[in-house]
Amino acid sequence: MGPDLAGGIAVLDFGGQYAHLICRRVRALGVYSALFPHNTSLAMLEQRGVAGVVLSGGPASVYSQGAPSADPQIFRSRIPMLGICYGYQLLVTANGGEVGRVGRREYGRTNVGVKSGGGLLDGMEGGVLACWMSHSDSATKIPASMEVLASSDGSPYAAVRVAGTPHFGVQFHPEVSHTEKGQEILSNFVFGVCRANRNWNMREFLERSIQSLSELEGNVLCAVSGGVDSSVTAAMLSRAIGHRLRSVFIDTGLLRKGESERVRRFLGKELGVQVEIVDASDRFLKSLVGVMDPEQKRKIVGRTFADVFEEFAKKEGPFGHLAQGTLYPDVIESGRSKGPADVIKTHHNVGGLPEDLSMAVVEPLRELYKDEVRELGTLLGLPREVVERHPFPGPGLAVRVVGEVTREKLGICREASSIVEEVLMEEGLYQKVWQAFAYVGDDQVTGVLGDERRLGHQVTVKVVESVDAMTADWFRLDHTVLERMASRITNEVPGAVAVSYSISSKPPATIEPQ
Ligand code: XMP
Repeated sequence: MGPDLAGGIAVLDFGGQYAHLICRRVRALGVYSALFPHNTSLAMLEQRGVAGVVLSGGPASVYSQGAPSADPQIFRSRIPMLGICYGYQLLVTANGGEVGRVGRREYGRTNVGVKSGGGLLDGMEGGVLACWMSHSDSATKIPASMEVLASSDGSPYAAVRVAGTPHFGVQFHPEVSHTEKGQEILSNFVFGVCRANRNWNMREFLERSIQSLSELEGNVLCAVSGGVDSSVTAAMLSRAIGHRLRSVFIDTGLLRKGESERVRRFLGKELGVQVEIVDASDRFLKSLVGVMDPEQKRKIVGRTFADVFEEFAKKEGPFGHLAQGTLYPDVIESGRSKGPADVIKTHHNVGGLPEDLSMAVVEPLRELYKDEVRELGTLLGLPREVVERHPFPGPGLAVRVVGEVTREKLGICREASSIVEEVLMEEGLYQKVWQAFAYVGDDQVTGVLGDERRLGHQVTVKVVESVDAMTADWFRLDHTVLERMASRITNEVPGAVAVSYSISSKPPATIEPQ
């Protein structure tokens, strides 16, 4: 059931932060695209029948020792190629040009003047594009065989083509949304140059996956959390195998407000997925008594989850398969991908689950990005509130309660976070931000209630924007909205006497407080 890369686009990963983004942008054009190690051979790419290859950006300098490079055969071949930033610099050096560190770095928006289209920039000739640049190395000399398509003040060779070949390079990042006409540039490459197949859409993916999942034998166990990934996984399996799916929701006591009722309602009532709720909240809270260290807390929550899950599986089993909502970036990051053919694999001990469960792991979303999973969720009829739900960390509120996890602090964190979400929804801002919550620690501040002074907690509200959680910026929330949140929190949440707003970005902070 692995998506077919024939007629699709391979992205060679040189470690750039935007490598995944290139794949996502190509897929948004309706063409399947997957990430490959930078040293993937030309023979392998040809064997897979790819229509073209993109060389991603990367943090290295092409001239430094041990810098990652591509199979030299690729540069001698006729396979359509687009080098971006570092990938572009490799193309320049492979053709006899020179790359070096020049005095002038370009970061951020830069105007690029288009001289000629050459296939890549067709339709933009004579125009000036605001492009996103992020480089300190530049091509200092290009070979006579290269044709200059565009230039900026800092990059006289901002876009090039090796004359007579389908090989292109751009110093800027067309995949980044800040680049004007970036998606058109990629589209010119993907369709105009590569003649790629428009073969990727979620409706077909869903049909193919359900067909393939229906061939699974025995009962399948799926842990659902209320998040979009596990909900989509369960909904797909339910369509494919009906009552042979057993979905379990483990209430850790560390979840968002009303989570088990919500899961029961939308999965159970609306989609007909049977969900068994295991209330293990007391066990989780007991295991966390006296634990202050964040890493310890994570480990304890992970281990307790594994124990509860294992007990359920042993008692209710046997199960032939364990289903998980793992996404493509996790597969790549954990180094478990051997390429896109590797769709259903037997893994043990994935994601902290017990080793001796001996179930084959099924990961129907392992080829997908989050936005694609959301699209699947909509196709499956999941309500908007689930499809658009913010991500939530595995250890739950244990990492949003700073210091020891107590019932009092958990209650404050849960109620205050619910208010933050409600206010954002009322303002139509919930979908515009990446995550929004409140966290609480042990700092006791003095408040006044009537004539009485009382000690209480300082609650911090955090709302961030992000595209992939690798970096995040604090959201510039209107003061009146902040004020509404703050007054509702201090009025409605027992134990909360003061509210602050986090204006830290990632880096240096992380999104979660712990
Ligand atoms: P940080 O706090 O590292 O978080 O900036 C980045 C993103 O990952 C989520 N997160 C986790 N997700 N298990 C998870 O499944 C975890 O232990 C975990 N820690 C952080 C976080 O919510 C954010 O979206």
